[in-house]
Amino acid sequence: MKFGHFDDSRREYVIETPKTPFPWINYLGSEDFFGLISNTAGGYNFYKDARMRRITRFRYNNIPVDDGGRYYYIKDGETVWNPGYKPVKTDLDSYECRHGMGYTTFTSSKNGLTAQLLAFVPLGYKGEINRLTLENNSTEEKTVSVFSLREWCLWDASDDMLNFQRNFSTGQVEVENGVVYHKTEYRERRNHYAFYSVNRPVDGFDTQLEDFLGMYNGFDRPDVVFTGESKNTIADGWQPCASHKNVITLKPGEKQSLIYILGYCELPEAEKWEALHVINKKPAKAMIEQFATCEQVDAAMDALRKNWDRLLSLYNVEIKDEKTARMVNIWNPYQCMVTFNMSRSASYFESGVGRGLGFRDSSQDLLGFVHQIPERAKERILDIAATQFRDGGCYHQYQPLTKKGNNDIGGGFNDDPLWLIAGTAAYIKETGDFSILDEATPYDCNPNDTGSLLEHLSASFNHVVDNKGPHGLPLIGRADWNDCMNLNCHSTTPGESFQTFGTADGRVAESVLIAGMFVAIGPELVELYTRKGMNDKAAAAQKEIDAMRETILTHGYDGEWFLRAYDAFGAKIGSKECDEGKIFIESQGYCVMAGIGVEDGRALKALNSVRDILECEHGIVLQQPAYQTYHSNLGECTSYPPGYKENAGIFCHNNPWIMIAETVIGRGGRAFDLYKKIAPAYREEISDLHRNEPYVYSQMIAGKDASRMGEAKNSWLTGTAAWNFVAISQAILGMKPGYDGLTVDPCIPASWDEYTVTRMFRGAKYVIHITNPKGVEKGIASITVDGTAISGNVIPVYPEGTTHAVEVVMG
Ligand code: BGC
Ligand code: NOJ
Repeated sequence: MKFGHFDDSRREYVIETPKTPFPWINYLGSEDFFGLISNTAGGYNFYKDARMRRITRFRYNNIPVDDGGRYYYIKDGETVWNPGYKPVKTDLDSYECRHGMGYTTFTSSKNGLTAQLLAFVPLGYKGEINRLTLENNSTEEKTVSVFSLREWCLWDASDDMLNFQRNFSTGQVEVENGVVYHKTEYRERRNHYAFYSVNRPVDGFDTQLEDFLGMYNGFDRPDVVFTGESKNTIADGWQPCASHKNVITLKPGEKQSLIYILGYCELPEAEKWEALHVINKKPAKAMIEQFATCEQVDAAMDALRKNWDRLLSLYNVEIKDEKTARMVNIWNPYQCMVTFNMSRSASYFESGVGRGLGFRDSSQDLLGFVHQIPERAKERILDIAATQFRDGGCYHQYQPLTKKGNNDIGGGFNDDPLWLIAGTAAYIKETGDFSILDEATPYDCNPNDTGSLLEHLSASFNHVVDNKGPHGLPLIGRADWNDCMNLNCHSTTPGESFQTFGTADGRVAESVLIAGMFVAIGPELVELYTRKGMNDKAAAAQKEIDAMRETILTHGYDGEWFLRAYDAFGAKIGSKECDEGKIFIESQGYCVMAGIGVEDGRALKALNSVRDILECEHGIVLQQPAYQTYHSNLGECTSYPPGYKENAGIFCHNNPWIMIAETVIGRGGRAFDLYKKIAPAYREEISDLHRNEPYVYSQMIAGKDASRMGEAKNSWLTGTAAWNFVAISQAILGMKPGYDGLTVDPCIPASWDEYTVTRMFRGAKYVIHITNPKGVEKGIASITVDGTAISGNVIPVYPEGTTHAVEVVMG
């Protein structure tokens, strides 16, 4: 069952009912100022950091779900309704929500009045624009009252939720010409305030939520709206909000627009005040002037659209399967941008207060994103690297506002360091910018203690070399990619954090996944050393990689598949000897991606085991058999009920590792079948089961042991986005950026006869037409570039601004 449809020509998902199986959201903003917006206009805003600079309030995990947002109440006679249906939930005569690239629109109607609400964050602007357009489609003149509502959060979202003994006495606002300025804590240590404006004189306002709603009322029954009269309250403590009242008279057929701005301003200390207790409103006024008219709004929307035209033209496929095209050309790169911006902080499953940016997560996000905004990728790489310690270890997370590592979670996740090498290599291959390796980069965020980025990468590599266990495999530390396999934690007391309890420095528990990563990612560093003329280092590193490969074959293979780990007592995990957790996905993916066992058939066997044991109709589960009981030696993964999350859920993030691994052994049909199982566009028809948005990946789909098999959780912020883009764009469609050019190496279903990829690479345009006359899955018979045959499959780097026609015949 579907609840909407894709409109590919406008790059929108069109939601046809407000009653989706879960709030289906979108993200506004692409640089510093962000908003989350659901299909009922719920959500919130923040500047840079969802925890430390929260602008509007949201009560997560609330009943009813998704309460609080950008609300516009229309009072037309005795009827009160909202263009987004919530919060009043009056039955609408029509409703439509379109989520597009960085904007959302609602078009709804009731009793002859149509309301269109457009919400977006203009490029380069620290604010969200909401344009509400009312059109009278009846034959009578209509006079309606429009009440807006936003609720202020007191900046630190965590403090805002917890510390109301203080907060109830701190709230402060000013109101001038109908603009509400939120200035809580501005009189002491803050140098920022927010404002909410509307572009015409108001007929009333409110800033005290309790008075606006009436004590004991919800957002669905505000006193002010239902009586039709604003109370002109000035918040003093308690819960500040911002509401405007505007009375609008519309002749039959007439249309009028109101432009609301939620903006954020920062001021230097010396310019903070106009007078005692009167904030300096100049920057807000300048922002308000920028969007006083519909023409200004239209121009900014146009600029936003053009920006996405450009971003999405960087990689484009023309292919018969429209679902693949829609994922590759629109929604997958869009989700990659969002995950890059948000990391794992703010979604409808992540509160925004718990986690900043993850070292591992952000490094992987780069893999799918770097071609879109290489300059920002570069900045991100250097920020991440700056949270690394001299010994190569690193903070697991850091806050985007301060760029400092989070002490709460600390470090000791031993896969983290290697992801920095992977992210940096992806950046250099895409851009050819080797100079990034020479950037002086702090250790532990200390500007007085720096090393070049290349030195950081060496430290990453050596962190594995210096931390091996009894079998010569890498020590796992707190955990590897699987945050919930906590082999040194051994917690038996409720409430202890699986991620921080126990030792990070266990000397026995080892990870075959990290070993596979080392063999897969290590060669990138060897290559960089070689290109820098550091041949001794290259040779030494290569020796370590070769040794690790042998160690995996000796101690990391279990007969039919790769082992997963050894626990703190030296016992095998992911072995046929285990009763539960006999086989795990991660090590099969990474070891085969590293090419281990490809020559002697062990890789093939491992992937066949994945197919036979782990795969189901909704994707590949993380392990089997699921753990039925809690095992303190394995940690959090065994704390989930069977079939969910890291206990045998379909963890979508590493399904593409298997897709890529399948292309390593040449099985394009298998790879694409796996792609279709989890790609959201292919699951749209089962939206009632899947429940999450059909236009973006979710982190997890409940696995075959779960009673809710096929139901997705944790949409949007997941490494799944980047990795699936890598799998489809590089491994399957076959365009692999390299240091010296673009390698063309498709691995596709035999039934595909042709497709065309247009890819920008280092400023030149490559139009690559692939034909498959013999119906093969892999292998190239010939390539011509601009009519001339080339040998090999690396298309060279061409001057910026040139266009090249590449004809590839498979066979
Ligand atoms: C989640 C993981 C997450 C970990 C660390 C766990 O509860 O299942 O997905 O990585 O917490 O935050
Ligand atoms: C989600 C985390 O963000 C990611 O870092 C981790 O690898 C997966 N969960 C698996 O535990």
